[in-house]
Amino acid sequence: MANQEVVNRKIVLRDYVVGFPQKSDLVLVSNEKIKLEVPEGSENGVLVKNLYLSCDSFMRDRMSKDCSYIPPFIPGEPITGYGVAKVVDSRHPEFKAGNLVWGLTGWEDYSLIMQREPLIKIEHTDVPLSYYTRILGMPGMTAYFGFMEIGSPKKGEYVFVSGATGAIGQLVGQFAKLTGCYVVGCAGSQEKVDLLKTTFGFDEAFNYKEEQDLDAALKRYFPEGIDVYFENVGGKMLDAVLLNMRNHGRIAACSMISQYNCEQHEGVQNLFMVVIKSIRMEGFVVFNYFQRYPEFLEFTRQSIKEGKIKFVEDKAEGLESGPTALFELFTGSNTGKQVVVSRD
Ligand SMILES: NC(=O)c1ccc[n+]([C@@H]2O[C@H](COP(=O)([O-])OP(=O)(O)OC[C@H]3O[C@@H](n4cnc5c(N)ncnc54)[C@H](OP(=O)(O)O)[C@@H]3O)[C@@H](O)[C@H]2O)c1
Repeated sequence: MANQEVVNRKIVLRDYVVGFPQKSDLVLVSNEKIKLEVPEGSENGVLVKNLYLSCDSFMRDRMSKDCSYIPPFIPGEPITGYGVAKVVDSRHPEFKAGNLVWGLTGWEDYSLIMQREPLIKIEHTDVPLSYYTRILGMPGMTAYFGFMEIGSPKKGEYVFVSGATGAIGQLVGQFAKLTGCYVVGCAGSQEKVDLLKTTFGFDEAFNYKEEQDLDAALKRYFPEGIDVYFENVGGKMLDAVLLNMRNHGRIAACSMISQYNCEQHEGVQNLFMVVIKSIRMEGFVVFNYFQRYPEFLEFTRQSIKEGKIKFVEDKAEGLESGPTALFELFTGSNTGKQVVVSRD
């Protein structure tokens, strides 16, 4: 096995992307071979076979030269993201062949991972492995710490979630229900609205694309105002939410996906509401919570076991389907967590 040479297919970024991404911005390259061993001199290197690759909208940001909070992808090299993988060979004392791991890996069949930090050993295999790309991985942690810590929800409070059927939003809604809150979500189709109410247990949901006046829509669902807003989209939605926040409300700013593909961002007009209503608006980045993974894992595994949390994913088969699967995030064609499954 160690000396075996295999083709290592990769999805590489053709060039930096400006504006809305196209499938052709990512190219499948299959002309490279690798040996199934960690090369000499690669101390602490871990060679993995990728099993599941997670499609996450923050990866669009990394396709821009001037990316925001993490380094951009390098044109001509495979893009990277969160995934679940099996260790093939290791020069790292904490990992050995056969271990299952999740963390940052390449969009390729095999990856040589040199940094220990983002690689977490999977100890519990009583759940489907793909859960570690989502409910028990980075999106789950984002929902948990963003909502529970930044949102600081209390029983009986009114919670609004935008981008609510996304991997993170659907979990935030369920964490809100577990906390005893009233929760409303918005999404971009009737099918997604139904899913929020029937599968994820949101109290109410609406299709933001069919609302002429977002402020009026929010007043309909929150006659008494919003205590906690979990922000995924930014732009016009944020502006309308600011008008509907209650005094001392909290806004957990997770993302502003409406800005990802625009060079000119819609201005937010109502920011002064933060002052008038003593709103605490706080952005956060999940990387800062990774050391608290065990706490999150315990809570969420238990909730899954007790059937208190549900999760929906869209699976795309094979590495070659990755670019289409990734770009569906920006058209909203995905429902739930978008994940690419390796064929073998
Ligand atoms: N702060 C952090 O540490 C952190 C960590 C991970 C991810 N994030 C960010 O959190 C956000 C949610 O992630 P996720 O994985 O749950 O989402 P996701 O599964 O990637 O969902 C994306 C959804 O966003 C909606 N959307 C796309 N463009 C939109 C627009 N212009 N306006 C409004 N909605 C739009 C679409 O649904 P509709 O059909 O409903 O429009 C789409 O299905 C992402 O933007 C991601 O980058 C932040």
